[in-house]
Amino acid sequence: MFANPPLSLKLRKVFFVALLVLICAILVYWLTQENKLWVVPEEYKSLKNPLPASPSNLNAAREIYFDECVQCHGERGQGDGPQAKSHYPLPADLTDPKLLRNVTDGEIFYQISQGRRPMPSFKNRLTQDQRWQLVLLVRSFSQPASSAGTPAAPTPSKMPAEK
Ligand code: HEC
Repeated sequence: MFANPPLSLKLRKVFFVALLVLICAILVYWLTQENKLWVVPEEYKSLKNPLPASPSNLNAAREIYFDECVQCHGERGQGDGPQAKSHYPLPADLTDPKLLRNVTDGEIFYQISQGRRPMPSFKNRLTQDQRWQLVLLVRSFSQPASSAGTPAAPTPSKMPAEK
């Protein structure tokens, strides 16, 4: 008497559709997680870094890096920070020339600004200049330290020992 057959059939249909939607959502989520490409809007790609790779910019960047990025990306940008292993996907190895060769400064700027899970967005945490300074530092990670007279190479000795 309470279990009205047409109603429960309807409910079951609703439930079935909901389940389908859920499965689709999980599939889409999983597929986009696998997709390694960052979709960067064209207007960002062509942006040029307004700051020169001067020692003062790089030192400023290093300080921010040690506050905000080192726990994941590691002291030298190799993606081996103390928190790195608890993240999926693993933090990118910023010393890999293959990874950085094909990205423009604007793209790196966008990646730092937007973040992508598990990497947080820094748009509201850092000023534009700070993010451009970080672009300089990220670039310097993949440049061989030996290349003649590049002040861009990170100097690990300047880094705080603990934390
Ligand atoms: C919570 C950990 C975490 C923090 C903090 C973090 N990152 Fe990341 N970062 C990642 C992960 C994980 C990826 C790879 C994301 C992916 O491929 O989907 C990544 C990717 C990147 C990339 C893109 C590399 C590429 O071309 O694929 C750049 C550049 C980068 N991070 C710079 C930074 C900078 C600069 C900071 C500090 C301001 C920072 N990250 C802070 C985890 C982190």
